Amino acid sequence: MAEDDTQPQVGAMESARAAGLWDRLGRIAYGADYNPEQWDEATWAEDVKLMAGAGVNLVSLAIFGWAALQPERDWFEWSWLDRVMDMLADASISVCLATATASPPPWLVTAHPQILPEDADGHRLWHGSRQHFCPSSRIFREHAGRLVEAMAARYGSHPALAAWHVGNEYGCHVSRCYCDESAGAFRAWLRDRYGSLDELNAAWSTSFWSQRYSSWDQIIPPRRAPTFPNPSQQLDFSRFSSDALLGCFRHEADIVRRVTPDVPVTTNFLGIFKPVDGFAWADEEDFVSHDSYPDPADPDAAVGAAMAFDFMRGASGGKPWLLLEQAPSAVNWRDVNQPKPAALYRLWSWQAVAHGANGVLSFQWRASRGGAEKFHSAMVPHGGADHPVYRQVAELGRELAEHPELAATEPGRAEVALLFDWASWWALELPSRPSTRLSLLDLARAYYEPLWRAGLPVDLVRPGSDLSGYRLAVAPNLYLLGADAAGQLARWVQGGGHLVTGFFSGIADENDRVYPGPYPGALRELLGVTIDQFWPLGPGDDVRLRLAGQQAGTGRCWSEEIRLHDATAAGWFDGGPLDGRPALATAERGRGRASYCGTLPDAATLAGWLAGAASNAGLTPLLERTAHGIEVQRRLGEGLEALFVLNHDTTRRAVRLAGHWEPAVGPAPQGLELDLGPRELAVLRRGTGNQASPRRNA
Ligand code: GLA
Repeated sequence: MAEDDTQPQVGAMESARAAGLWDRLGRIAYGADYNPEQWDEATWAEDVKLMAGAGVNLVSLAIFGWAALQPERDWFEWSWLDRVMDMLADASISVCLATATASPPPWLVTAHPQILPEDADGHRLWHGSRQHFCPSSRIFREHAGRLVEAMAARYGSHPALAAWHVGNEYGCHVSRCYCDESAGAFRAWLRDRYGSLDELNAAWSTSFWSQRYSSWDQIIPPRRAPTFPNPSQQLDFSRFSSDALLGCFRHEADIVRRVTPDVPVTTNFLGIFKPVDGFAWADEEDFVSHDSYPDPADPDAAVGAAMAFDFMRGASGGKPWLLLEQAPSAVNWRDVNQPKPAALYRLWSWQAVAHGANGVLSFQWRASRGGAEKFHSAMVPHGGADHPVYRQVAELGRELAEHPELAATEPGRAEVALLFDWASWWALELPSRPSTRLSLLDLARAYYEPLWRAGLPVDLVRPGSDLSGYRLAVAPNLYLLGADAAGQLARWVQGGGHLVTGFFSGIADENDRVYPGPYPGALRELLGVTIDQFWPLGPGDDVRLRLAGQQAGTGRCWSEEIRLHDATAAGWFDGGPLDGRPALATAERGRGRASYCGTLPDAATLAGWLAGAASNAGLTPLLERTAHGIEVQRRLGEGLEALFVLNHDTTRRAVRLAGHWEPAVGPAPQGLELDLGPRELAVLRRGTGNQASPRRNA
């Protein structure tokens, strides 16, 4: 069927609506969640003045506004939002308008207590906080839809409306519900997936432990049970729960898209968040949005933040995304909440831009006087506009506004793909595995960090997606891997791709059933290794490694009995029960290469191994010479290339550039040397004849 060009594509990779938003904003957007319902009208006037003073041009409005917008079932109260929307429009501040459905009002819950979610023990989660809705509740969706329909009708043509912010941080507090209505929705979802009970019984291996179902009604969510509930049932419940939340998003997104077909739609991710399959969601958004809350007390916080940013970039296919929330200073929800120094606020904001954010917003604009988040920092703190936090906020606003040219650049795709899959994540971390010490985020971070430190940009992408354009794919763990995705990976390697795979990958199919035959079933031919038994390692049980070239290293977390049937050893276990057996292996395949590692090597060993793989794949880092704590990223536009060099360290660092750059933000290079103070950054630029080649060294 021919594509209807009156209906722009949905999906963060290709939305024309998102492109329209970036054009409208015209520069890296700056702003906050704005919750005016907590304040009187005189404060709104001051807010708008202070926003102008801080360079704010985008706010996310009314996220928790439901009770104020609809105080009773048949009473909509628009006057305050009308007024605020008008004031913002008059001040040329665009609005990412929330659908306001993230916290159902008490009247709704009291009239329909069945919308409240239940946990695995059958305990109801009550109102009086937020996000107290069952994702499968038809009554919740009906009332949410009524509000959204009315919002869209009222503000659809308002000049301030720039985008829709649907819901808020789906799954943050309640990511799954085990109530009877959810059970019914789960059954319907399963019928749709499997078609027949025979298929379901086979997929779930219900011949084990007498679990065979003879009627759909017998199936329930994995509620509290005497011991391990069926793992395939748990996996499907994770899939279903992500889809149920996505159904809530879709329900509201469909309404606003029908009423305002040109206005882009987003919702905010909590980074790489286990309950919600981010890739599936990105397919349904016009642009991806992210809430980033690294801990200022963590000296390595920038690495985790960068990995989440690179998920946003990967899920957006190299298009810009939006940092919809961060904290201007301290949060209130850790045990101990340290303020964020001004230099970190600036550095981490620019870090998001470096990875592709086209806007930097904070939670929230003005610090609340009461409620659960009154000690969370805000752009206007309790101390008001004379407070140092407002001054730092205003300074960054001015700095971002001075560089509209950056908003016309895009991060583009990286050349390294880190393969990351939610279903595999859910399955890997279920109980009753060889080890419960496996955390996909920890493994992914271990592989990501050396690439980040080496100045090699990385996109997080899902297995099975198109890898053309990537030279190196790194799969820290793919425990669960469908045969199609495995086949596609093998073809990509044959065609010249370089693959690095971590242990316990390719073991199970989509239903968490082990592939028949020797491990690792789905990847055995590609990797050329056979694994006879797993020898997972407990805390402190590190194993010694001997690497080609006589170097020594250590492995932790995992070891295994590997036999090579069509690969070459690149490292061996040294001592212990696996003494002399291969630990690392490499296989040449067609024009490419597949490498495998049967343990989690120490950081230096892993860095060396990945550096070798990157160089074999023909990759060159963005900087010729980098230093500890230095991060480098790039954005490209028509005729312009921007290089972001960030010093995350607390000591002064010098780096060497490979070519000549003009300073845009921060210190100017002296020749090829760039000197950065502690937590300082520089944005450098140079003209290009046309679109710059992403392969060129900086
Ligand atoms: C999340 C929410 C906000 C707020 C902040 C506090 O990101 O979306 O409403 O609670 O956390 O850090």
